Amino acid sequence: MYNSSSVHTTCLSLFSLSASLCLHPLFKVHQWGDKSVRLINLCLSVCFPFSAFFFLFILSFFQVDRFLYAMRLHDDQLKDISARFQAEMKKGLSAESNAAAAVKMLPTHVRSTPDGTEKGQFVALDLGGSKFKVLQVKVREGMGIRRGGVEMEEKIYPIPKELLSGRGTELFDHVSESLKDFLHEKNISLEKKHPLAFTFSFPCEHSKLDQGLLVNWSKNYRVRGLQGKDVVKTLREAIDRTGGMNVEVLAMVNDTVATMMTCGFDDQYCDVGLIIGTGTNACYMEGLRNVDLVEGDEGRMCINTEWGGFGDDGALNDYITEFDREVDAASNNPGKQIFEKMVSGMYLGELVRLVVLKMAKRGKLFDGQVSDALRTTGKITTAHVAAMEQYKTGLNNTRDILTELDLNPSPDDCVAVQHISTIVSFRSSNLVAAGLAAILSRIKRNRNLRTLRITVGVDGTVYKTYPKRLHKVVRRLLPECHVRFVLSDSGSSKGAALVTAVAQRLASLRQQVDETLCPFKLSQEQLQLVKARMRAGLEAGLKTKGSSAIKMLPSYVYRTPDGTEHGKYLALDLGGTNFRAMMVNFKRQNARLYHKIYTIPLEIMQGTGEELFDHIAQCVSDFLDYMGMKNAHLPAGFTFSFPCEQTAIDTGTLVSWTKGYKATDCEGHDVVSMLREAIKRRNNNATFDLDIVAVVNDTVGTMMSCAYEDPQCEIGLIAGTGTNVCYMEEKKEVDAELSKMCINTEWGGLGDDGSLDDIITPYDMEVNQNSINPGRQRFEKLTSGMYLGEIVRQVLLDLTRGGLLFRGHVTETLKTPGIFETKYLSQIESDRLALLQVRSILQQLGLKGTCDDSIIVKEVCGAVSRRAAQLCGAGMAAVVDKIRENRGLDHLNITVGVDGALYKLHPHFSRVLKDTTEVLAPQCNVTFLPSEEGSGKGAALISAVARQMHG
Ligand code: BG6
Ligand code: BG6
Ligand code: GLC
Ligand code: GLC
Repeated sequence: MYNSSSVHTTCLSLFSLSASLCLHPLFKVHQWGDKSVRLINLCLSVCFPFSAFFFLFILSFFQVDRFLYAMRLHDDQLKDISARFQAEMKKGLSAESNAAAAVKMLPTHVRSTPDGTEKGQFVALDLGGSKFKVLQVKVREGMGIRRGGVEMEEKIYPIPKELLSGRGTELFDHVSESLKDFLHEKNISLEKKHPLAFTFSFPCEHSKLDQGLLVNWSKNYRVRGLQGKDVVKTLREAIDRTGGMNVEVLAMVNDTVATMMTCGFDDQYCDVGLIIGTGTNACYMEGLRNVDLVEGDEGRMCINTEWGGFGDDGALNDYITEFDREVDAASNNPGKQIFEKMVSGMYLGELVRLVVLKMAKRGKLFDGQVSDALRTTGKITTAHVAAMEQYKTGLNNTRDILTELDLNPSPDDCVAVQHISTIVSFRSSNLVAAGLAAILSRIKRNRNLRTLRITVGVDGTVYKTYPKRLHKVVRRLLPECHVRFVLSDSGSSKGAALVTAVAQRLASLRQQVDETLCPFKLSQEQLQLVKARMRAGLEAGLKTKGSSAIKMLPSYVYRTPDGTEHGKYLALDLGGTNFRAMMVNFKRQNARLYHKIYTIPLEIMQGTGEELFDHIAQCVSDFLDYMGMKNAHLPAGFTFSFPCEQTAIDTGTLVSWTKGYKATDCEGHDVVSMLREAIKRRNNNATFDLDIVAVVNDTVGTMMSCAYEDPQCEIGLIAGTGTNVCYMEEKKEVDAELSKMCINTEWGGLGDDGSLDDIITPYDMEVNQNSINPGRQRFEKLTSGMYLGEIVRQVLLDLTRGGLLFRGHVTETLKTPGIFETKYLSQIESDRLALLQVRSILQQLGLKGTCDDSIIVKEVCGAVSRRAAQLCGAGMAAVVDKIRENRGLDHLNITVGVDGALYKLHPHFSRVLKDTTEVLAPQCNVTFLPSEEGSGKGAALISAVARQMHG
């Protein structure tokens, strides 16, 4: 009725159906009891006339299933393995536990994926997979990588077996001789210098791209004398020994890294590289802040996990079968690469052989017959396993393979052995999926995302055999991630060449960025010089009233508060970021404050003086209304944060506007009178009156405000929109009636006589030229909030024009003055901000760039703000040393009251300022005390002191 082949085919189809059902995780067949198995068999016997055949198939099938129970991993187990691997990754990344970690998590020093601007011609070596290859890779000039301008030629060179366990020098001599042969055969000039990219598929500890110490051999390599040695150096030495060629080894990378780079070339989401070949391994891009072993927090670095070592510390013991133990014991490296031995191509065939052998010995296969060939290591390979699992031809292949092994398999033997192969190879895919799920979950968590879109670049003979299984399991384990798998189209050599090209591009970019930022990096000698010049400027200002760069303006404040001040005062505060009106009530060493903030529009800052003072009077009127004090006649202090020539505490002639102010008809006039007149103008409309008792600079107000808390406070510093310092000077220096007088230095003018020309960069010159007061306030323009962002913008413009940033695109945004306010500078430089956040701040500002661009922008901000803090520190060292010397002291303890957005909001300014002051004025112990209520409180205090002094 049935010919044998049609029965065979039908049975096979049924078998395949039941096999796929049984392997599906939903069915968990291995957990069914004997009764269920018998029931199925009964049903099948009734349903099908050829039940006898089918019975045999099913029986063999379940027999194998039960025998390999421990290799059938369901999803809960995979999730458990995934969680264990996540813990191992953490161990490997941490400096404390890395030495003992089984999963080494090796930093690769590959920081960027290709950006399309790389070019050049490279030779490449690819050693460590199933084939050793020499290649030429051309990235054609002008084409750009992403437009497909990569051409490759390759030749496979066999490696004689004895070299795999010979001496290191012999292996590398063979490698370099193959290279020379390749250059010769392809007519590549032997004289011209060729950059060389090296894919070396073994674990290496890198301290840079072109250096890597071999941690250990794996797979079928057991070469002597190289462990712990620098492989790049070994290769270079071999190339020298071979002689007659001019190659420069620029980068060495693991095959996982090179695979990620190859795939990253076409897909910007490719942040993971995976190999399932002779060996298995994965790499991924990790935030540098999580990598303890490499200095620096910025950006990303590719980590070669070397996940093959997972389980070497026993972490997988409960998943390891007796067959895994046997494979391990007979391997080149017992106890090592446990995970690799459960997964990769070098071991799958052997696992199948050991299972078949054991089952045969137990009489469960071949009627108990065992051949010598079956007893021989290596007789079943991964290629055999793949052939046995082939769709349609698989059972025939199995029969042929078993026959080749001098066995005499029955059809159910073939079904059983095929099923063994499937279980072993399924386990491999499942384990890889569990490892990959751990890496992807980590990336998702690092990025703080609920879903992750990512691409995994993959290569290796085993992957190519069973791609879909891996995809399915990963998607089942991580349903919230959109994972794309891209097979590396041309091995890993293209990727290695790209790493080299990226390295070349980055090295040249680094050099140019370093050169650009170099003038901002001041040496100790330069800072000492600035200190000396500041000191000379302070002395000159005291002597030559008015004409020197540093004005040294007397403030007519003779003493700091002593706590006896009392009463209610008004304070007006003009010249910082905002105008503030304030009411302060001093009572027994306590001050209660009420204030309101008003903005001063640019058109008022730069309109007429009358408009400006009318606006202030309007704000004051509003404030008094707000406080319900319209008719009160209170004494008022006026903080006016610009240089004023004073002849008394309550008069001040504006010397010149600074910062963003340019109101007409004010310079040379008494600002107190101008304010009084503005109030009078309003009073024609019958409003309020003010008794202005004192006009003070913000530095003086700040010093007074802090001195109320700390009697040692005798210096006031502002590091905000502008910068300035005041301090208590000795009587002999200022002809004061009383013992001391506070001097408003107006140190922002240092350099107006050219004394800072040697440290001023072209970017500073540009900022100066574009300012409203060119040639003036040169020190302030190097150090204060109003200008730092502009300096940064000038540097960014230059770097962009040079093609080093934003892909050379000079956008309108970048050309817009004032886009970088101090607050952005402070945010960008914050240590707590991940690079992606920096990138998003830049995007808010309209500057769209890559993560690499963000690193450079942050570096530029850092160089500019650090220089500012150092210069202020040098200036402060001059001031405190002067005070110390004036007082004839060996050692001075002093407090500086400080205010200003730059000091208060910038993440590093205050620390660098303090450190620099400490280094440059070692005989002074300087405490910086941030002012809490601004300088308005100080102005009120000065009014109180003035009231006390003048009755
Ligand atoms: C190749 C790479 O494409 O894949 C090798 O170029 C790598 O470097 C290999 O080791 C992995 O596969 P296999 O199967 O050859 O070990
Ligand atoms: C404030 C003062 O606290 O600090 C102002 O009250 C001063 O008068 C200011 O000018 C400086 O800071 P910024 O950053 O606003 O210029
Ligand atoms: C081995 C090597 C590893 C390599 C992998 C795939 O596990 O140790 O460096 O990436 O094989 O080739
Ligand atoms: C400018 C002003 C100065 C003020 C400083 C801080 O330098 O000229 O008077 O103290 O800014 O606000």
